Amino acid sequence: MASDDDYNPDDYDPFEDFNRSAGIGLVDNPYPLFAMVRSEHPIMQEDLRAGMLAEAEAAGVDQAGLIDLDIPDVYTAFSFDAVQQVLKDGETFSSKGYADVMGQVMGHTILEMDEPEHHTYRGLVQQAFSRKAMEQWERDLVVGVVDEHIDAFIDRGRADLVRELTFPFPVVVIARLLGLPRDDLPWFHRKAVELISVGFDMDRGLAASRAIYDYLLPFIEARRTEPSDDVLSVLAHAELDDTRLTDDEIIAFCRLLLPAGAETTYRSSSNLLHGLLTHTDQLDALRADRTLLPQAIEEGLRWEPPLLTILRTATRDVVVEGVEITAGATVIINMGAANHDEKYWERPEEFDIFRAPRQHLAFAWGPHMCLGLHLARMETRVVVNRVLDRLPGLRFDPDVETPPITGMTFRAPGALPVTWD
Ligand code: HEM
Repeated sequence: MASDDDYNPDDYDPFEDFNRSAGIGLVDNPYPLFAMVRSEHPIMQEDLRAGMLAEAEAAGVDQAGLIDLDIPDVYTAFSFDAVQQVLKDGETFSSKGYADVMGQVMGHTILEMDEPEHHTYRGLVQQAFSRKAMEQWERDLVVGVVDEHIDAFIDRGRADLVRELTFPFPVVVIARLLGLPRDDLPWFHRKAVELISVGFDMDRGLAASRAIYDYLLPFIEARRTEPSDDVLSVLAHAELDDTRLTDDEIIAFCRLLLPAGAETTYRSSSNLLHGLLTHTDQLDALRADRTLLPQAIEEGLRWEPPLLTILRTATRDVVVEGVEITAGATVIINMGAANHDEKYWERPEEFDIFRAPRQHLAFAWGPHMCLGLHLARMETRVVVNRVLDRLPGLRFDPDVETPPITGMTFRAPGALPVTWD
């Protein structure tokens, strides 16, 4: 059972807390800048020393120490082809760099593994995300969770769909998939927010990480002796070539599901709803013909991916799109810029659900391509369908200013104030 002495679920608003931690450094629209750089540099070396020197000068700090500092090479991949080349080749571009920061909080997760460890581990954890499981989760869980959230505000006639629906529902889905008791959900949601806000408050993030460990361990022990039909049971019993997951590995995976599975889905469903609500002709078309929903979901992900950048480290000297990358360099992979590459999309800055389908890179590519992409698509399909079914004439609330989609690494609107008939 969850416990936290200073915790009262009635006076805790997870979104407020999250917003406080995520609301720094807002950027409205980085895409024109990406387009400008991409047109000259499919992949570009960043001059970190010049940036640091300029910052030191502006702050009136002595720059002498910076001149001899050993600063690693950093490159950013902007074009679709450069991003795809880096992501495809896990041998040349390692994921180990995540261990330094994220590993401290999450534990040793799949995200920071290279082959062959990654292949075995992925083979084990993906047993919990089968097609059959997906169909069952949609029917028995996700529709109900989304409906419960809509029930809470439907009589009011207006709502903020971010705070009341798209932000909370994916965490509840994950907690229920893991098989955690309903009474523990508020506590779990709070710990999830503390964990994903680790960049803002490291100590609180680390404490949440330990609390989640202590909380999950007895559940895993119980599922090892008495399995049920939840994800924890599948992970506790998954087997591949005589390898099984340890308790630490299962807990690291569960922790990762919070940023990887909940934060991304909240942002992608918010961005899609924002696109539809600001393009009412497309919203009307979708309302009238729900077979357009899968392509609308993909366009939302292409147009405004929830997560713009991920990282790799070059393991050897290599050439990408004509640029020499040195062994040991960090490569920032800008999936947002790649998804707007005019080589592959006409009018890339426009949201257009009628585009011819084409593979985007919001879920990355190659060995680490998102493990939860079917779950993410299913959750988004359910939330958009239920919103359109239950909130006829859905539109932005004319009495409230519409916030834009913002962010430089993660992107989403701060709110979706809506009303309906
Ligand atoms: C629209 C929503 C989502 C987006 C845009 C997204 C995006 C991504 C991206 C870009 C990566 C690659 C990270 C890297 O290699 O550095 C990734 C990996 C991953 N995602 Fe997602 N994700 C989403 C939803 C989910 C969901 C719902 C789950 C829940 C199961 C999930 C679980 C994972 C896991 C476990 C990995 C690591 C895979 C590996 O390292 O092999 N994601 N995701």
